Amino acid sequence: MTEQTSRPWWQDALIYQLYIRSFADSNGDGVGDIAGIRSRLGHIASLGVDAIWLNPCYPSPQHDHGYDVANYFDIHGEYGTLEDFDEMLAEAAEHNIKILMDLVPGHCSIDHRWFIAALASPPGSPERARFYFRDGKGENGSEPPNNWQSAFGGPAWTRINEDENDGQWYMHTFAREQPDLDHTNADVQQLFDDIFTFWFDRGVEGFRVDAVAGVGKHPDLPDQPPVGDDAGVLDVTWINPYLAFRPEGHDIWRRFRTSVENYVDAHPERELMMVAEAYAVRRPEIIKAFTEPDQFQQMFSFDLMMTPWEKTSIERAMLDPIAILRETGVAPAWTLNNHDIQRVVTRLGRADAHVPESWTNNNLSLSRADVDLELGERRARAMAALIFALPGSLYLYQGEEIGLPEVFDIPDDRREDPVFDRTNGEEIGRDGCRVPLPWTNDAATSYGFSTPQADGSVDGPWLPQPAGWGERSLDSVEAIENSTLDVYRTLGQMRSAHAVTQPQDAEPVEFGAGLVGVRRGSLVVIVNSTMAPIELDMTHEALGGAELVFTSEPGVATAPGTIPANATIWFTT
Ligand code: NOJ
Repeated sequence: MTEQTSRPWWQDALIYQLYIRSFADSNGDGVGDIAGIRSRLGHIASLGVDAIWLNPCYPSPQHDHGYDVANYFDIHGEYGTLEDFDEMLAEAAEHNIKILMDLVPGHCSIDHRWFIAALASPPGSPERARFYFRDGKGENGSEPPNNWQSAFGGPAWTRINEDENDGQWYMHTFAREQPDLDHTNADVQQLFDDIFTFWFDRGVEGFRVDAVAGVGKHPDLPDQPPVGDDAGVLDVTWINPYLAFRPEGHDIWRRFRTSVENYVDAHPERELMMVAEAYAVRRPEIIKAFTEPDQFQQMFSFDLMMTPWEKTSIERAMLDPIAILRETGVAPAWTLNNHDIQRVVTRLGRADAHVPESWTNNNLSLSRADVDLELGERRARAMAALIFALPGSLYLYQGEEIGLPEVFDIPDDRREDPVFDRTNGEEIGRDGCRVPLPWTNDAATSYGFSTPQADGSVDGPWLPQPAGWGERSLDSVEAIENSTLDVYRTLGQMRSAHAVTQPQDAEPVEFGAGLVGVRRGSLVVIVNSTMAPIELDMTHEALGGAELVFTSEPGVATAPGTIPANATIWFTT
């Protein structure tokens, strides 16, 4: 049974998340840039990618690597110019690759002209009303206005000075360099309308919308009540009922959707989208609320990214988003990695393949101890083979296709993530998944990351690359048969040939202990989550006339009907 796809492109798109700073550096300054992206579009296209999601590349002092935006209408100088951006977009279009930007609505940078104006203006002024400026509590207002904590550690408030006439505090859900914007303010509302128009006019097809959980606060900003035992898999900050997942947020998303729809009304040939980012793992009701027809078209399903390598957890992580799809028609946005989370190869390479408790989950207890990278890479391939088959779109994170692990060897004084400082080093932060990509085995060019400057010199990469990084490079793995890269490229082809042509639905099939089975139309996919090969019962009703079309372990010879350990296979029936 096959289905003609008349769905909007993003409902089953393969999207490549590109962290520009670490992707490819065209001018030898040690920082990735737009010209670097252009030089590597061929590689991205070889994966069968439909769109690139670019992490923020707006002008920014880089206190949180672009999530502190100083100007929403330009390109960060280290990365290039608007002209470079336009050329990249046109060249990507020649490869049939669309561009999605990252939109950061919750906060801007302390260098944004509005924040500079707010500091120069008195309490109660219109300049301050675009942010959350409040008087402090206690004697001389020396205590923060409430007890809210920043997602990066420490209070969510910073005092601008000790002046008793103007010792106000401003709120920052993240770092102090990221002041929160108040979306009840008309200027702020207009700003985001203008941002949509500006980038849609340039040809951008949509936005990944950052940190939607904390945008829209309780108007009275009450103290956060004590956190209960049900804090579960979400970062404690998000358990604050006055800051996280507020009804006020949904008014903002409705306005965003109206902006997008207004644009489409005037440009009916465009199919624009927004995908919301928040850690709503095991909270299907949250995904449903954000993807109401008047809000986001999609929201990330981080469930599989946060699951341990264990049958029932994988099943649940897969089936919750599919249940939403069935109920509401909203396609899941699967992902196994991003720039905030320890890389999947490392996570799944641990014997216990833990459940993370925090979205910045790189704390010391999750360090390198007991990681078997070869095992992790097999499981990562198997997990990828599962999501490539499922209904919905999927987001790969650069470096995933060559099986990069998390990097732990970053000296403390080279760590850049604000999480490291704000937790006094208790959490090592997210730098380890952001290390510049290795393209070749040539140490002199930071493993092909940097193209030398005119005089032949190369500045070191902005984050140090570990020993042996070149052996993990694209060039090195390209030469290896049945590498993770081979598997990803094959999966891209298999997906177009056998998965996206199937109905937008899937159902579980039970094949026995340790096996996760799913049927999508005529495609049957089985994951072996155990440490031993398993012989399948080929008389199983779901396998009538089944033909094996894919295995995530092409290098492992097995008898027909046997699934290798830690592997996924696809049958067509
Ligand atoms: C989520 C982004 O993915 C992360 O990198 C960033 O630090 C926070 N939002 C704050 O913008």
